[in-house]
Amino acid sequence: MARDFNSVGVVGLGTMGAGIVEVFARNGIDVVAVEVDEAALERGRATLTGSVGRAVARGKLTEQERDALLGRVRFTVGLQSLGDVDLVVEAVPEQMPIKRRIFEELDRVCKPSAILATNTSSLSVTDIAVTTRRPNQVVGMHFFNPAPVMKLVEVIRTVVTDAEVVADVEALCARLGKVDVTIADRAGFIANALLFGYLNQAVRMYEARYVSREDLDAAMKLGAGLPMGPLTLLDLIGLDTSFQVLDTMYRRGGRDRRHAPAPLIEQMVAAGLLGRKSGRGFYTYDGPGSPVVVPDALTTVHLYEVQRTSWRGVLASAK
Ligand SMILES: NC(=O)c1ccc[n+]([C@@H]2O[C@H](COP(=O)([O-])OP(=O)(O)OC[C@H]3O[C@@H](n4cnc5c(N)ncnc54)[C@H](O)[C@@H]3O)[C@@H](O)[C@H]2O)c1
Repeated sequence: MARDFNSVGVVGLGTMGAGIVEVFARNGIDVVAVEVDEAALERGRATLTGSVGRAVARGKLTEQERDALLGRVRFTVGLQSLGDVDLVVEAVPEQMPIKRRIFEELDRVCKPSAILATNTSSLSVTDIAVTTRRPNQVVGMHFFNPAPVMKLVEVIRTVVTDAEVVADVEALCARLGKVDVTIADRAGFIANALLFGYLNQAVRMYEARYVSREDLDAAMKLGAGLPMGPLTLLDLIGLDTSFQVLDTMYRRGGRDRRHAPAPLIEQMVAAGLLGRKSGRGFYTYDGPGSPVVVPDALTTVHLYEVQRTSWRGVLASAK
């Protein structure tokens, strides 16, 4: 029989963690949501309430469902409150020393039966697991961005993960309405191993000034049929996280040039241009965390947008 997950912990409420909290709470599971300090906790809380507020406005959630969802989440600073949870998903920055420190502490505070999962995109789950005394209960649970929307979860098993633990996590993914794919511990797993070479190549094209950011994104959106262009996607992922993912894949994946981070990414991170989360990346947004792009010095109006606008104008004036 699959294990029951009545309460879970989520550590780190940034781009990914706040969405992962929402996924669990939406599916009736109590969540202890953990951040490093009060300011970050408030940001995480605001992301969650903003997201469920939009779901209510779009008619995807009733007000009662929203209240019940928020009532299932307990926000707290520090890991001490995770003693009773059945599973923890860690979503702190993509840096091995931070992850290892968190897992050492999780191993101390969590009950012996708890499963410890990392949302890492590229780091070795095995190297994280061996910081604990329960490496057989450590897995990767790699959600995609935005977690409440994206259907896929990559489940990463290491050579020492118990088969029942993998089966329990797969069953949990199904309960969350997700589709899981299970993979061994290799850098970038499936999706990022294929995706990040392309994203990096797009930045190289842009930094070599072949093309404007709008034309580059329009080409992949309208020409390749992707939901968004690569620079828009990098802004959504976060430039800091993207840099770390590329750098790790480059080092772990045999120094394949495709994954050597384009210099522009590192320069943007150093300048604090992290993408949507900081309000500016390849594009400028109307505030930190906002999805709304505002014009800036680099803005070029794209032909298809002009056509759309002028057709609308023609139609409106014809009425
Ligand atoms: N951004 C994406 O699109 C994406 C997609 C899938 C997986 N991931 C992975 O998810 C993880 C988190 O990435 P992110 O983009 O959400 O990062 P982020 O920088 O947006 O958020 C990280 C959060 O962790 C918090 N944090 C730092 N130290 C902490 C601690 N000791 N205790 C509790 N919280 C702490 C930070 O305050 C921050 O809010 C990374 O491993 C990343 O590779 C990211």
